[in-house]
Amino acid sequence: MIDFSFYSPTEFVFGRNTETRTGALARQYGAKKVMILYGGGSAVRSGLIGRVKASIDSEGIPYIEMGGIQPNPTDGKVREGIDLVRGSGADFLLAVGGGSVLDCSKAIAAGAKYDGDPWDLITYKVKAQAALPIVDILTLAATGSEYDCGGVISRTETNDKIGYMDSLLFPVCSILDPTYTFSVSKKQTAAGCADAMNHVMEQYFAADTTLLNDGICEAELRALMANARKCLANPKDYTARAEMMLCCTYGCNGILSLGNSYSGWPCHAIEHALSAYYDITHGEGLAIITPRWMRHILSEKTIDRFVKYGINVFGIDASLPKQEIAEKAIDETYRFFESINIPMHLREVGIDDSRIDEMAHHIAVNEGLDKAYVPLSEQDIKKILVESL
Ligand code: NZQ
Ligand code: ZN
Repeated sequence: MIDFSFYSPTEFVFGRNTETRTGALARQYGAKKVMILYGGGSAVRSGLIGRVKASIDSEGIPYIEMGGIQPNPTDGKVREGIDLVRGSGADFLLAVGGGSVLDCSKAIAAGAKYDGDPWDLITYKVKAQAALPIVDILTLAATGSEYDCGGVISRTETNDKIGYMDSLLFPVCSILDPTYTFSVSKKQTAAGCADAMNHVMEQYFAADTTLLNDGICEAELRALMANARKCLANPKDYTARAEMMLCCTYGCNGILSLGNSYSGWPCHAIEHALSAYYDITHGEGLAIITPRWMRHILSEKTIDRFVKYGINVFGIDASLPKQEIAEKAIDETYRFFESINIPMHLREVGIDDSRIDEMAHHIAVNEGLDKAYVPLSEQDIKKILVESL
């Protein structure tokens, strides 16, 4: 068991109609002027933004708003948000949306309290000294941003997509109503499932793990697959959407790997380059990379992890030879993603071989995968990308 410290200050308010408590929660957490942030319009069309405004109004708290936060949010949108905060005197952020809205809000929260370039904070050149409080209302189950202190911001000019963390950026409160996710498309439901599954795997496939963590991770993976199938069959299945939401929420704040050694999160490192260069959907990129990465790292050294994964997650016959169990486990992983209609080749999401060398180099230089659970060189990364085409 590796030493660790764990800090997780976010309140969850989970269940139906919880947006009606937004105003009261904003007041409880000290809001004097709220900035409401949302994405490309789904939260407006569903009526959620209207209901949230009514709840804030009912507390007499003034607000401003900024919409138009796109998937894979950019530093440009972060700067726009910081300018708005400064111009309006807002002291509190209400992020309504999926991971992209939450992540952009986190970068704004820290950037608004920093006089220099917000990119300094994202790239860890400077440590944030303060951040605005954030309450979020999650509308898409996937990233776990609602329970972690991380954000992922892209800078298109340099093909960077950087995940950064700061304990100042935990939302003070996450409002989680599974009914808000009823309208999530099949594509985003499947991608969200793949993202959350990969968050679990990035913690499960590590050199040192515990029986406790292994058991929770295996249950998470089974629950994610079972509930994703139900959500896709019936998008308004409350129980399935609710379990999906909570499974995803646990994914990213480290609670699944307390005491484990760090894996290096290799699939995320590779995928972030794909979505930086090609602006693809994060969960789809992960689903494509994951089985190829698994096949690449399967060896004498790692086989026992794959055997355990195969038996406990997919119910593969434990009496089969180890190599057969491991290979079946990887095949099952691929087949599950395929069965929920995720495109399983990079070419299907618009990525050809023209920039593979460039991306492999970028990942090798920037992501530290030489220290991953199974270290990956530039050549290894290139091979995984080529296999994924
Ligand atoms: O923009 P709107 O109109 O709201 O539409 C969004 C967007 O087009 C739509 N959507 C969201 N809620 C909906 C809905 N459509 C209908 N009904 C609803 N209730 O879904 C589309 C995708 O939204 P987005 O927020 O981009 O998806 P997701 O939650 O998967 O977030 C992806 C981003 O999070 C980052 C990813 O890299 C990517 O940039 N990540 C953040 C992490 C974190 N903070 O911990 C960890 C992850 O590994 C990930 O890297
Ligand atoms: Zn992810």
